[in-house]
Amino acid sequence: MHEAAKCKDSKIVLALDFPFEAPENIGKVLAKAQDILKLVQPYICAVKINHHLVLPLGTFDGIEPLIEQIHGQGLLAIMDAKVNDIGNTNQVIAEYYYAAGFDALIANPFVGWEEGLRPLFEVSKRLNRGVILLCYMSHKGACEGYGQTIVDQETCMQIPQYLSFAKKALKWGADGAVVGATVPEKIREIKQILGSHVAIYSPGVGTQGGAAETAVKAGANYLIVGREIINSANPAKTAQLLNDSIKGI
Ligand code: XMP
Repeated sequence: MHEAAKCKDSKIVLALDFPFEAPENIGKVLAKAQDILKLVQPYICAVKINHHLVLPLGTFDGIEPLIEQIHGQGLLAIMDAKVNDIGNTNQVIAEYYYAAGFDALIANPFVGWEEGLRPLFEVSKRLNRGVILLCYMSHKGACEGYGQTIVDQETCMQIPQYLSFAKKALKWGADGAVVGATVPEKIREIKQILGSHVAIYSPGVGTQGGAAETAVKAGANYLIVGREIINSANPAKTAQLLNDSIKGI
């Protein structure tokens, strides 16, 4: 990511999300994704794909050519699967996404390590791919889970759930941590734990109310942006302006 961001002079990860299309119109979805990508690619360093595309397109026939296009433009491809199951299932999920060409997966630390995310990390390390862990999500209800106060298993001290996840991101060797741009104060706290060891990815810019500059000033390394760019009248210009607004911070 560091190299891609340097080469492209951008910290923007495009969330390539589109609204639901009826099954008879699925053919349009790939074309829309390819068109937006062509326009926006000079101003981004990676593309985050979610179920919005994997469900209608399928993993190998539909997504694989799109990932080739992403890689062909010097960008990385992240799958926002929020992997969250038992270890064996997580491993198979990861193997399929990595076989399709994804460089990294987003996973949910609520599932724990042993027989949870450990097999996912093992397969990721073996294939030299990345794991990005959720620490604090960008939506309002995130406080109900990520914001709970828990008793830390190692220290027996009370600690916010999101700080426990940040410590796990370090301990487990995660390649990134997701913290909503909507909660810059949480980005700041998590940054104190992660330092420069684990990069912070912040979704929630624009449409969800997060401010790009504030998130980066608080410690976000990369901004994940979807609707603010995709739904704008001029996606390329919007991506360029967004990227310009955080240069040099
Ligand atoms: P918008 O359109 O709001 O899209 O810019 C954001 C994209 O990111 C996803 N999202 C998250 N993914 N942790 C994640 O891993 C989060 O906290 C989070 N918040 C939003 C969202 O599903 C969409 O793809």
